[in-house]
Amino acid sequence: MGGSPFLQNQWYVCARSADVTRAPLQRWICGEPIVFYRRENGAPVALEDRCPHRKYPLSQGRLIGDEIECAYHGLRFGASGACTLIPAQSEIPKGFGTRAYPITERNNLVYVWIGAAEKADDKLIPDFFENSDPAWAAECDYTHLEANWQLIVDNLLDLTHLTFVHKTTLASSGIQENPLIVTQEGDVVRARREMPNVEPAPIFRTMRNFAGNIDRFQNISYLPPNHIHIRIEACPTGKREDPDLVHHVVLNHLTPETERTTHYFWSICRRMRTQDAEIGALLRRLNKTAFDEDAVILRDQQKMIDTDPDGGVLVNLDADKAVSAVRRIIRRKMQEQAEPSAKG
Ligand code: FES
Ligand SMILES: [Fe+2]
Repeated sequence: MGGSPFLQNQWYVCARSADVTRAPLQRWICGEPIVFYRRENGAPVALEDRCPHRKYPLSQGRLIGDEIECAYHGLRFGASGACTLIPAQSEIPKGFGTRAYPITERNNLVYVWIGAAEKADDKLIPDFFENSDPAWAAECDYTHLEANWQLIVDNLLDLTHLTFVHKTTLASSGIQENPLIVTQEGDVVRARREMPNVEPAPIFRTMRNFAGNIDRFQNISYLPPNHIHIRIEACPTGKREDPDLVHHVVLNHLTPETERTTHYFWSICRRMRTQDAEIGALLRRLNKTAFDEDAVILRDQQKMIDTDPDGGVLVNLDADKAVSAVRRIIRRKMQEQAEPSAKG
């Protein structure tokens, strides 16, 4: 396990709750093929998506009750991974089956545990209540990215790119001009940028009719191993006691698919006008436009890093303070994984 390029013994978001159904779904998580489905009682199941017989993907098969039947020679496996039927043989060898992964569901997201199953602990999952609390409305979506997950973490921690990449959605003046204040508590990194008296970016015109300039605030939190919580605040200039100060929250979960591709689960959550489906659709569209713009940048950036004869060394500038703090944490965790004796 020490040689894995991915952080082990972690919960990873593997799907939105609605994605896991009675139709088997294949998804690679941290380089491991996994088939996801629901039992008849609704509980999610995660099994290694390689039939132990001849390695055919189980996700090509069908469900019979809580069991999955391999589409090649008809072997069946239960939710625990144990083989329950071999059509051409009366006896099932003891312990024969496929691997079952710990799986759990929280805030409308499904999490799978990558690593040693006995270490899985639900308490390690952060509380992303904004995604499921009835006082909030959440637009939860998915984008597939052709880049290593850490490049996306970098992207979300350095929002100076908004001005250049997201001109029609998130950009406004005041981003470059104001510093990012970075603090760290254990392995949680927080970054805040205050932008007083700026013109509202297009996204701030979706829910409120700001007559003039606004005070805008970005509050970014990195939560290990791969979550970025962004709270966006906005108020008419000088009115910081505004009860609607929290404009929206963006939840970002970056789950490695391979070393070069990432499952990006994101939610735009709001407390204002929660019943207004049009607002929800508009927010989703604006953010999707922005994230599709990021997808192109990240893909091209990954390609240039991979082909750089100088090894793709990245440079940290002032705006990268949070980026470097988080990179240090991830590097340390990877080191501890590679040499457990280095821990402490
Ligand atoms: S490969 Fe699955 S039953 Fe043979
Ligand atoms: Fe972006």
